[in-house]
Amino acid sequence: MPNSQLSPEQLPQHIAIIMDGNGRWAKARGKPRVFGHKNGVSAVRKTISSSAKLGIKAVTLFAFSSENWRRPEDEVGILMELFISVLSTEVKKLHKNNLRLRIIGDTSRFSRRLQEKIAHAEEMTASNTGMVINIAANYGGKWDITQAAKRVAEDVKRGQIAPEDIEESTIAQYLTMSDLPEVDLLIRTSGECRISNFMLWQMAYAEMYFTPIFWPEFDEASLIEAVTWYVNRERRFGCTGEQIKALMED
Ligand code: IPE
Ligand code: IPE
Ligand code: MG
Repeated sequence: MPNSQLSPEQLPQHIAIIMDGNGRWAKARGKPRVFGHKNGVSAVRKTISSSAKLGIKAVTLFAFSSENWRRPEDEVGILMELFISVLSTEVKKLHKNNLRLRIIGDTSRFSRRLQEKIAHAEEMTASNTGMVINIAANYGGKWDITQAAKRVAEDVKRGQIAPEDIEESTIAQYLTMSDLPEVDLLIRTSGECRISNFMLWQMAYAEMYFTPIFWPEFDEASLIEAVTWYVNRERRFGCTGEQIKALMED
């Protein structure tokens, strides 16, 4: 039986996704960019439920980069409103499903209202034991390494560690998501093949999967396709999407 060859351990433990192409998806339909962002939310929902069904340990979604502040003010404003409303409507559902939600990034630049929503969502789901969902918001890979370096420097100043004793693991413990395995699989939609300052350190060994479809079109079948690709790259045998699907719990 080919199924017996595939076990859950062969799946990626940590999947990171650059959710790109909302604007182009909307434009192709003659709609404003915000229409794409709104439709991107249902792709987020599908991705979360499919990943949880597969038993993935952690999913990190790039929602807003530290560079995205450069977008027109009204688009940034609409994205912020969208975060607030999605956090309000979705968190209870995530909690009910035992999922843990965390927002990763420099949240200090967000409005007080959004910061409150974030704190509430994180608190509510903090002790859940299921999949971890990290939403990267005002996140940048360079920012992450910089904030870790600052904290190491503070330890040096306090005499807790000597500069010559700084190792990779010293930096790693101060990076965001230090409690999770590093990223196994990066997915980027919309055909762009770049990292756009997403996680840098944590993706040092990630397999990178680029698909031309736009983010609002991403669904369970797309995730299965990406995971199938990953398993076949890592294990070098011909696993099928059907086998991946068979690992999903109903
Ligand atoms: C990704 O879609 C969503 C965010 C960055 C918030 P884009 O808004 O980048 O869509 P394109 O790349 O312009 O099509
Ligand atoms: C990366 O997408 C950031 C997010 C998906 C949130 P962008 O569309 O902002 O990236 P660039 O600017 O095209 O590299
Ligand atoms: Mg884009």
